[in-house]
Amino acid sequence: MFVDAALTWDEAARVDPARFGAVAVIDVLRATTTMLAALENGAAGVVPVAAPEEAFEWRRRRPDVLLGGERGAVRIAGFDLGNSPLEYAPETVRGKLVVLTTTNGTRAFRQVLQTFAAAGSGGSGPPEGPDAEEKRAGPAVLAACLRNAAAAAAALAREARRSGRGVLLVCSGTDGRFSREDAYCAGVIVRHLERLEDVRRGDGADAAVRLLRPDASALEELSSSFHGRRLLALGLERDIEFCAATDVSAGVPRLVSGMLVLAGNRGSCGE
Ligand code: MLT
Repeated sequence: MFVDAALTWDEAARVDPARFGAVAVIDVLRATTTMLAALENGAAGVVPVAAPEEAFEWRRRRPDVLLGGERGAVRIAGFDLGNSPLEYAPETVRGKLVVLTTTNGTRAFRQVLQTFAAAGSGGSGPPEGPDAEEKRAGPAVLAACLRNAAAAAAALAREARRSGRGVLLVCSGTDGRFSREDAYCAGVIVRHLERLEDVRRGDGADAAVRLLRPDASALEELSSSFHGRRLLALGLERDIEFCAATDVSAGVPRLVSGMLVLAGNRGSCGE
């Protein structure tokens, strides 16, 4: 199975969509962790949107939605919630639709949708054989973070096997630039995939694995990254601890008609 990683969201604009049957967007600090937390705590769905205006438009059409998100890691004026996974408690989100916009994470989803919008062709030549329809379909798009790394890898492997194509991990990065915590998470997921499948790594996936340091904990990796230090300076240590917990959730958010819903088993998100 071919596995590659785009190390920033705009790199995802330049991948060959025909190669991939399963895609995971990664924004460990904190968007994809927050999406998972919201869904595990009972949100009906999470709609990732690129800009605050799109979120306000949602509210005009559906006054019952919760608006969540940040700019500069701080809650957007007029929004109900910021981008801390700890804000998305069961009593706040149960049964609600959350519309989320973040600086990098939700833009990464938008980029993935654009890149794969034309992927219905399933490749350059006409697909052959009984699974031709399957191969023509676009990829499964999932949200991954450290908390669901093992579960996300299992879901990615399943989807890639089914489609006969590869796995793409899209790191959201920070302000258009590489971020260590997302690459670290991509490396963890590649390692999980290698326990499940015979993997051939693209350069991005290979670089992500090579960045893994056997003697450093996830908490150390996140706390010492550029964005981790920024969050620490804002007093958000508990967010970082929450985001660093690895393989503790069986939940895998999956994009269905523009909305993330929980696929697979529910995990526990009550901390
Ligand atoms: C982002 O999408 O840039 C992040 O999730 C920022 C944050 O930590 O809130």
